[in-house]
Amino acid sequence: MAYSSSCLCSLLLALLLNVTNAQPLVPAFFIFGDSVVDVGNNNHKFSVVKANFPPYGRDFENHYPTGRFCNGKLATDFTADLLGFTSYPPAYLNLNTKGNNLLNGANFASAASGYYKHTAKLYNAIPLSQQLEYYKECQNKLVEVAGQKNASSIISDALYLVSAGTSDFIQNYYINPLLNKFYTIDRFSDTILQSYSDFIQSLHALGARRIGVTSLPPIGCLPGAITLFGSKSNECVAKLNSDAISFNKKLNTTSQKLKNMLPGLKLVIFDIYQPLYDLVTKHSQNGFFEARKGCCGTGLIETSILCNRKSIGTCANASEYVFWDSFHPTEAANKVLANNLVAAGVSLIS
Ligand SMILES: *[C@@H]1O[C@H](CO)[C@@H](O)[C@H](O)[C@H]1NC(C)=O
Ligand SMILES: *[C@@H]1O[C@H](CO)[C@@H](O)[C@H](O)[C@H]1NC(C)=O
Ligand SMILES: *[C@@H]1O[C@H](CO)[C@@H](O)[C@H](O)[C@H]1NC(C)=O
Repeated sequence: MAYSSSCLCSLLLALLLNVTNAQPLVPAFFIFGDSVVDVGNNNHKFSVVKANFPPYGRDFENHYPTGRFCNGKLATDFTADLLGFTSYPPAYLNLNTKGNNLLNGANFASAASGYYKHTAKLYNAIPLSQQLEYYKECQNKLVEVAGQKNASSIISDALYLVSAGTSDFIQNYYINPLLNKFYTIDRFSDTILQSYSDFIQSLHALGARRIGVTSLPPIGCLPGAITLFGSKSNECVAKLNSDAISFNKKLNTTSQKLKNMLPGLKLVIFDIYQPLYDLVTKHSQNGFFEARKGCCGTGLIETSILCNRKSIGTCANASEYVFWDSFHPTEAANKVLANNLVAAGVSLIS
């Protein structure tokens, strides 16, 4: 496994060397989803789910808290680096994001959003349906700055990444009696996969052809989930992880159907379950010292506004931690995840 990933990475490296000092491997990179990939859209929403204050961003460019739920770079930032971009797709709602800034892509993700539209509503986040509306608006702007012909090729050659689902379970299903009393986990998964399927079909109808979708992570190993659902144990919550595994199987089946149905579509599932699970359960073998606690505060529960400058106990060196706050990986962990993403994504860009 490790061998084949490094093989693919060298293949990609070879591709990259060919384009040194030239164009990125794809003309643009568009990102949709939740807090794992939000780069600041929620800064512009009346929502408590934000990360645009220290210590978020303390290891990012200029130590600036952009709204990323991380001390530094997200996995998608590393991906953009590897693709040869010199800047990251900007948060679409950022007022500076217009015209020429959109030529290399944009980021529509919003923390606490999900496939299930009510998840986003609970937190006043941007539902995926609205992210898609913003993307349509963005396409019109692209046509204005690049012309119809160039815009069409940017749209069809661009890489699209969708990363959602965790909030639907952690921030909604498991804590919401209106859902968990009436839906079995299986039925809830089917419901959100229907939204996933609709989303991919809409994106395809709008011209997207190269789409990567992340699987659910091992949600039972997120420090906050262990605290909330772990019955005082410090181990990953097995039930939550098995829910994620069954969801991921269904995600594969649904994606296979979409590929058969939608002409010209390249669709790849980026499995982040296994690499993150390995980081947590074999952290010392991977050069990490701590996986039960996040770096910020006690690391057991803090995220968003609870992780702030006044949080007591924040660690000095986040690169020793798998998790930055109680729900989101550190830059160091994201780098490992990104390498896996790139290995799996070669077929999307070649
Ligand atoms: C379209 O792309 C070509 C090739 O990159 C470029 O020369 C041309 O200026 C672009 N057209 C517009 C309207 O930007
Ligand atoms: C889903 O597909 C991906 C890529 O083909 C694979 O790596 C992963 O193991 C599959 N996951 C499940 C749960 O079948
Ligand atoms: C932080 O930890 C990493 C990994 O153990 C180590 O390589 C690095 O030197 C440390 N940085 C500081 C400033 O101590």
